[in-house]
Order: sequence, then structure tokens, then C-alpha cells
Amino acid sequence: MPTISDPKLIVGMERPDDAGVYKLRDDLALVVTLDFFTPIVDDPYTFGQIAVANALSDVYAMGARPILAMNIICFPINTMDISILQETLRGGSDKMHQADVLLVGGHSVEDNEFKYGLSVTGTIHPNRVLTNSKAKVGDKLILTKPIGTGIISTAIKAKMADDISTQTSIESMKTLNRGPAELMSKFNVRACTDVSGFGLLGHACEMIEDTDVGMTIYESNVPILPGTKEYAKQGLIPGGTYRNQQFRVHMIDNNGGLSEDIMHILFDAQTSGGLLIAIPEPDANKLLSAMHEKGISDAAIIGEITDEPKGRIVIK
Ligand code: CO
Ligand code: CO
Ligand code: CO
Repeated sequence: MPTISDPKLIVGMERPDDAGVYKLRDDLALVVTLDFFTPIVDDPYTFGQIAVANALSDVYAMGARPILAMNIICFPINTMDISILQETLRGGSDKMHQADVLLVGGHSVEDNEFKYGLSVTGTIHPNRVLTNSKAKVGDKLILTKPIGTGIISTAIKAKMADDISTQTSIESMKTLNRGPAELMSKFNVRACTDVSGFGLLGHACEMIEDTDVGMTIYESNVPILPGTKEYAKQGLIPGGTYRNQQFRVHMIDNNGGLSEDIMHILFDAQTSGGLLIAIPEPDANKLLSAMHEKGISDAAIIGEITDEPKGRIVIK
């Protein structure tokens, strides 16, 4: 794709980032993004909630506040009961209300497969924009949600997931990233992204690719959803997770010889995952404590930015 440059374009397509950012005035920028996908849970109301939490996440990942949204709907009107769509939209609307986001329109088309999501507009001060690639040596990495939703969704589809894994995973995917985003706005965070389809390590690779820093991740500090390890061992791995690993494996040093199961989990394609935040040392612990106090109990420091090996991730 051709690169578009414009003095007002703060974040465009020159690097992979979570959303586009366009400066309107010296003190105001627009943040725009869209996301939609096929149902990942059976209950349509729950699917609506997850789809909205997921779509808003890219705005939070820029350090911004979402304000307006539009529905994107693809629906097989001749083969699926319209009540499924109505329930999905009700779940989505309730989640937008919780986020103080206004639904102002949308568009629907007939399609063979049901899909739902949002286009989202947010605002931010141009000086506060958090791209995913400005981390510096010594920064700590905070992850705000446990990983494993792709593997657990695969287990649910295979009817092999237990109730606790299912419920914990759904609860996590429904949870807005608003809480951690509001807390991080009180600190000098250096970089942020959200963990979604490329998995924890895929998005971590985006943070350091073509930069002059490297990264270490402490595998035992990474929060993982209950059941994930068991289902990974049973081979319940989504196709996207394998693709993530193949695409980025050349950037990973698995010196500790961690098992393939663990590597699958670290690359597991997430839906509505948490924020991955790079923040200088003393503030990292303060932000983490503030998150725990606010009930974001799974948040953890999972690694740090290093000088060497540049452009690579060492897993310990
Ligand atoms: Co994102
Ligand atoms: Co996205
Ligand atoms: Co960001």
C-alpha cells in the first residue's frame, strides 16, 4: 500500500499500530479504528458485549478516550433468526453505555456468515498519543489481562472446556480496557498496544521490530487463564496461533527451552485481550499497584525492554 504523509497525520500506516491518529488542533487529535468478526461464543448478547469491548480496545491502546461508534453488521437474513441479531446489538449497546460511548449509526449488509463490530472515533491530546514502538531500555512491561482466549474458545467449540475456564475467559473478553487506560493516563507511559489476533508475542514483536531495543519476557510472570495449559497440551490450538508463531519465530530466543505448548500459549490469538504497557521502572510498580487496587487483579509485570539483542525477544 502507498504511504500517505500529511503533517496532521500523527499515526498512519507506515508502522503497524492500533489506530489512526489525526491532529485537528494543537490540543486535540482524532483517533479512528474499526474491528468486526464472527461469533466466538454461542450466546448472542455475550457476543455483542465482547465485540464492542474488542473494538473499543484499540482506542484505549492509544491512550485515548472513545466517544462515538457505528455498528458494522453482516447478517444472513434468510437463514438466521433475526432475534440473534437483536440480542447481539443489545449486548453491544449495553457495553457501549458502560464505556460512555454513543452509538450514532451503522451499516448492515446481507452475508453468508454473521459478523458484528464497530467503527470507533475517540479523542486525545496530540502530546499524549501512545504508539506501540517508543519503549526505552529499562522500561517494564505490564500486561493487564490473562492470555489463552483463543485456546479456550477452541476447547469450547470442541465441547471440551469446563465451566470455570469458559466463564473466566468470557468474563475477561467482556471486560473493557477502560480501567487500565484511565490509570495509565496518570503516568508517563512510553508505549502501549493491546493484545489481540497476533497473540502476546506477536504484539510484543511489533513493539520492538525495526527499533534499537530488545525485550525479555519472564514466562512464569505471564497471567494465563485457567484451563489454557491443559487444553494446549491436548492440542486444542487455533489455526491463527500456529500462523502467529510461524510468522515471528525468527525474532524469538527460547533459550530456556520452554515447551511447544507454552510457546503456543504465548502466541495464542487473543480476542479482546489486555493492554501491554511499557513504562519506566519506578512508575511501573505504582501503576501496577493502582491497577490491583482498582480490581484489575490479573495485571502483572511480565518483562522489560533491553539493550540487546536488538529487535529480538528473549523468553526466560
Ligand atoms: Co490493537
Ligand atoms: Co484491532
Ligand atoms: Co498504542
